[in-house]
Parts: sequence; structure tokens; C-alpha cells
Amino acid sequence: MSLQIKISPSILSSDLSNLATECQKMLASGADYLHLDIMDGRFVPNFTFGPPVIKCLRENLKEAFFDCHLMVADPEDWVNAMKEAGCSLFTFHLEATKDPLQIINAIHSSGMKAGIAVNPSTSVFDVLPYLDKVDMVLIMSVQPGFGGQRFEPCALGKIREVRSRYPSLDIEVDGGINLENVGMVKDAGATVIVAGSAIAKSDDPPETILRMRGTSE
Ligand code: DX5
Ligand code: ZN
Repeated sequence: MSLQIKISPSILSSDLSNLATECQKMLASGADYLHLDIMDGRFVPNFTFGPPVIKCLRENLKEAFFDCHLMVADPEDWVNAMKEAGCSLFTFHLEATKDPLQIINAIHSSGMKAGIAVNPSTSVFDVLPYLDKVDMVLIMSVQPGFGGQRFEPCALGKIREVRSRYPSLDIEVDGGINLENVGMVKDAGATVIVAGSAIAKSDDPPETILRMRGTSE
């Protein structure tokens, strides 16, 4: 089965002082989603932004799909605020919660899509029990917290394992993806490609997005 590839640029490597403009640029460059990295300084050793900033972005970008990656402790505490801010897809980390099923239910009840993420050090088998309940799984290919890190190939085996069991589930991959390794990631079965520095630092973001999606040959 051939699944549609979606490109979700992470705006972490963009000029964060011009967030709305940077997001508009990504959408005009052909991005399918906007990947918004929310960090709380507790789950990861970095701090970005939260619901108030996302709410302002939503006022500027009424139609955009906000792919929100919550690298936060106690993600259940943020479901309502993220919904009110305009989040489309709420992805929490398996490592950050004691009750994944409860938070998945809360996300769905609020009307958002639900995603579940796993760190490079977490076994893919730990997340399998939840995959028939979510809209997407996020396989991290770097330690979460910072853009610009090197891709960790251990992600590939995890993607293949999930794809062999879930032929139509969206599998997102995040961290260190560029034009050299995106082919491997897609061949393994990923459908949602996050790229921060590879797109933000590219001379030609629209061309990079096209080539990542595989439609520029
Ligand atoms: C890292 C974030 C990523 C990051 C990706 O913790 O979750 O979304 O911005 O950036 P690159 O593509 O530069 O690794
Ligand atoms: Zn991310």
C-alpha cells in the first residue's frame, strides 16, 4: 500500500522572533503540517513556548495543521489549554506519562488528533499496545530537546517494526532528517517527515520540501 507522505517542517531552527512569518513561509513553500516543538525545561533540558504563543499563531494561520510535539512532563495537564490554543494534533511522550490511555482519551474527547512519541532509548515494543488507539506514532531519531543533531539509525528498525504491524498508521520521524537520509526513512515506512535545520538552512526551502516528499525527480 502506498501512503501519502507529509512534510512537517519544525520551526525550532527558524527565526523564532518572527514566528508567524516563518510559519507562513513554510506553508508557502509546500509544507503539509507545521511541527511545533513545545518544551518545558523538565522533560527535556530546553524551553521553547506554549499555548499562548500557539494561540497567537492560530489567529494568524487559521487553516494550518498544527502538529504539536509536546516534550513536557505531565502532558495530561496541557490537553485543554492546547485545544483552546488551536492545536490540531497533540503528540505526547510515552516516557512522560503514567497513563497513556487516559491522555489519549482526553485528547480525542477534546476534538484533537492524538499522537504518541518514543525516545531513541525506549523500546518500540513499549508503545505497540497503544497504537490502535492513536492517529500517529512519532519515532524520535535524536534525543529530544534540540534541533541540528545527527540522525540515529536505531529509528529505522522501529519504523519497520511498526509498519509491519500497522499498514496504514501514520508514522512520524523527527530528528536529523535531511536529503541524504530521508529516502531510508521513507523506505522503512515513515509517512510524516519532520525536518528542522535541513529546511530552515536550505537555500531553497520549496525545492527541499519537494525533494523530501519525493516529487522533484
Ligand atoms: C528535537 C525536536 C525536533 C527538531 C528537529 O527535540 O523534536 O523537532 O526541531 O530538528 P532537526 O531536523 O534539525 O533535527
Ligand atoms: Zn519535534
